[in-house]
Formats: sequence, C-alpha cells, structure tokens
Amino acid sequence: MSAPRALLVTGATGRLGEATVRCLADRGDQLLLTGRNEKRLAELAATFGGSGTVGTLPADATEPEGAQHAAAEAVQRFGRLDGLVHLVGGFSVGPVMLTDVSAYEEQLKANFLSAVVATQAVLPHLSEGGRLVYFGTPLAGEPLAAMSSYAASKAALTTWMRSMAHEVKNRGIHANLISLTLVDTPEMRKEMPHVDPALTVEAELVGRAVRFLTGTESDGLYGGVVPVVGKFGFSSALAGGPPPGAGRPAR
Ligand SMILES: NC(=O)c1ccc[n+]([C@@H]2O[C@H](COP(=O)([O-])OP(=O)(O)OC[C@H]3O[C@@H](n4cnc5c(N)ncnc54)[C@H](OP(=O)(O)O)[C@@H]3O)[C@@H](O)[C@H]2O)c1
Repeated sequence: MSAPRALLVTGATGRLGEATVRCLADRGDQLLLTGRNEKRLAELAATFGGSGTVGTLPADATEPEGAQHAAAEAVQRFGRLDGLVHLVGGFSVGPVMLTDVSAYEEQLKANFLSAVVATQAVLPHLSEGGRLVYFGTPLAGEPLAAMSSYAASKAALTTWMRSMAHEVKNRGIHANLISLTLVDTPEMRKEMPHVDPALTVEAELVGRAVRFLTGTESDGLYGGVVPVVGKFGFSSALAGGPPPGAGRPAR
C-alpha cells in the first residue's frame, strides 16, 4: 500500500461513503468528510473519529463558499491536501415529456457542476502527485430510456473530467473517474428488490478502487475512466428495440 494521503471526501454522507472511508482509513489516510446531512456526519464521526485521522465538517461542497471552506479546513487540519474524492451525486428517472426542466438542472448541479465547484476549490492546494477522483456510470456512453437527465449529467461530468485531466497532468496531478453500475448497499436492496445482488458491485470494491486511484499505484493514470461494474450487463438491446413495424419489408 502506498503512503497515507490527506484527502477531502465530499458527499461522504451517501451510500458509498462509509465503505470508501473505511478503505482509505485502513491506509492511515487523514480524511475530512463533508456533506449537508449533519446526523449522518455525526454517525461517521462516531464510527471513524476514534482513529484521530478522520474528521467531519458540515458543508455544501456544491456551493463555491462551502467547497472553499472545506478545502481550506482540510489544509489547516492536515498541513497539506493531496486530493479530492468527490462522492456527491444524484439520480433521477423519468421520460423526457414528463420531466420538468428543473429536474435536469438538479441533475446537472449534483452530478456535474458540483464536481467543477469542488475541483476549483481544491486545485490551488494540490501539488505534484495530487489526486482527483469522480464517479460516473456506463449510462453516460450507453444511455437507456427514461434516464436522460442522469445519463446526460454524468456524460457531462465524464467529458469535463477528461478535458480537465489534460490541464492538470502538466502539474503532475491525476484526475480519474470510476464508472459504476449498481453498488450493493442496504438502500439499493430496499429500493430494487428485483435486482440480483450477485450482479451488483460490493461497496468495498469501490472503496478499494478509490484507494488505488488516490495512491501511487495509479501513478500512470491520467484522465482514465475506470470501470468497476461487476457482473452487471449493459447491452444496447436494453435501450429498447426498434418501433413496431420498423424494418419490415413494404407490402
Ligand atoms: N450507488 C450506486 O450504485 C452508484 C452507481 C453509479 C454511480 N454512482 C455515483 O457514485 C457517487 C457516490 O454514490 P452514492 O450512492 O454514495 O451517492 P448518493 O448517496 O446518492 O449521494 C452522495 C451524497 O451527495 C450529496 N448530494 C446529493 N445531491 C446533492 C445536491 N443536489 N447538492 C449537494 N449535495 C448533494 C448528498 O450529501 P448531503 O445531502 O449530506 O449533502 C449525498 O449523501 C455518486 O456520484 C453517484 O452518482 C453511484
């Protein structure tokens, strides 16, 4: 395992927060966890606070002020900042004709603009070897029906990350994205009881990928889209067949 890092983890209050933090804490990382959900932050503090290396800060990292405050606080606590693990994200389903434009704005904010804001706050503090890690989905490249707001916002995130990675690599900073299908969490099992858990990804495997992408083991990766998709199958056939009658010879 590479040496411990000092990282800002935004959106740590979500489903993947705990498993990710556990994997990073196992390396001895110094971590500042942020989110708006103070109750969940308190639970994370109770779980990880004993180590002395994991702290929490209520902050909305999707707003420039909140993100800048969080980045400055991490630098003050740790004496340096080695990277950002940006777990903030949202999910929405609905056909275009039944989806208000505000839902598109929300998805763009949660999945794309939040990453821009958090990255702009963190970048000034990073030096050679710094790390930026984001989370996307294969749906960004293989979108399914009724997922346009989610898929489009993650596509924006992915393309933005790949562009930005070219800018920061000249400073020795590594930006990469983990592309996820469905991660096995208690919330997922409750919301999607029909999904076979064998096809989902264990949350710990996501945490291990984050540890890899924030450690020197990934020194060769700049602008990568790293699939951690388990055995889940995405087939373009899932996007729906042709309309009835399409492709039949004319009579
Ligand atoms: N879980 C999966 O199966 C899966 C699959 C594919 C991709 N991903 C991506 O992986 C990342 C982590 O997943 P997750 O399941 O842990 O995410 P999550 O639980 O849905 O959300 C993570 C955190 O993001 C913050 N957040 C959400 N919407 C926000 C908004 N509009 N403004 C500010 N903060 C907001 C929330 O924190 P606060 O409310 O505390 O601020 C939330 O706890 C996300 O980007 C997600 O899209 C997850």
